[in-house]
Amino acid sequence: MTEALLRAGATTVLVDVDQQPLDEARAKYHKEGLDAHSFACDLTNSTRLDALVDYVESTHGRADVLVNCTGVTTQHDSHDYPDELWSATLSLNLEAPFQLSKRIARLMIAQGGGSMIHITSINAEQRFAFNPAYQASKGGLRSLSKSLANDLGPHGIRSNTVGPGYFETSMHAGRLNDPERVKARAARTMLGRIGQPAELAGIVVLLASDAAAYITGQEIYVDGGWHGGSSVYNVSCAVQLTYDNVRLPCPDVSHK
Ligand SMILES: NC(=O)c1ccc[n+]([C@@H]2O[C@H](COP(=O)([O-])OP(=O)(O)OC[C@H]3O[C@@H](n4cnc5c(N)ncnc54)[C@H](O)[C@@H]3O)[C@@H](O)[C@H]2O)c1
Repeated sequence: MTEALLRAGATTVLVDVDQQPLDEARAKYHKEGLDAHSFACDLTNSTRLDALVDYVESTHGRADVLVNCTGVTTQHDSHDYPDELWSATLSLNLEAPFQLSKRIARLMIAQGGGSMIHITSINAEQRFAFNPAYQASKGGLRSLSKSLANDLGPHGIRSNTVGPGYFETSMHAGRLNDPERVKARAARTMLGRIGQPAELAGIVVLLASDAAAYITGQEIYVDGGWHGGSSVYNVSCAVQLTYDNVRLPCPDVSHK
């Protein structure tokens, strides 16, 4: 996404909690003559968020596009999901995008408009096992985007979400080594494969640009058709449910 925005001509400020990947990315882009800058920032730290926005304003004077991208996911049984994981996930995946959007909105209002793009997930829409914090955070971000679109629209600010399906990134580093798992995930899509990060580029450049001037409050899924093919069940249900002595035959649901 960053590379695509740079190649489309954007001056871009990369943000990460770690300095090293920022230095490496900036060096790589500079070699190609792309206008990349960076700011190391723990997005859950409000003092650092203030410093980030001060840096953007003082160094670059404006912020036309905000991409809220960072997120973490940790699976665990819902019935004893650790409180500290819940708080950490909600803090980075939902609170941080709100706090950053709020601060950047002030710049965008002053300059007369802008585009906010929030990276959610198919988890924002669909149930996934053992991931209550991630699912709640992405569903919350999806709703937050609509709220921002509504409130900031009169200032010329657009807000949309992009929901990736399953992509080959460091988020899934360990799991991508399991061919059976990758195959199962790929089988959930219409295209029969998982996504590559570069395949998010087109939609982000579109939403960032004036070509999307009348697109706001929308959720766009980039998932190889996973979401559109959501009614995937393969359940052979041979049990009967009983309730107050009424026997309810359970239908055999077996379709893909
Ligand atoms: N990879 C997928 O399949 C997938 C699917 C759906 C949605 N998403 C979403 O896409 C976004 C990007 O995911 P990814 O796969 O690139 O993740 P990733 O794990 O590869 O990268 C996350 C980055 O966030 C940084 N980070 C962690 N904590 C931070 C903090 N406190 N402050 C600042 N930076 C911090 C990390 O250093 C890392 O560089 C996330 O919002 C994720 O939920 C990813």
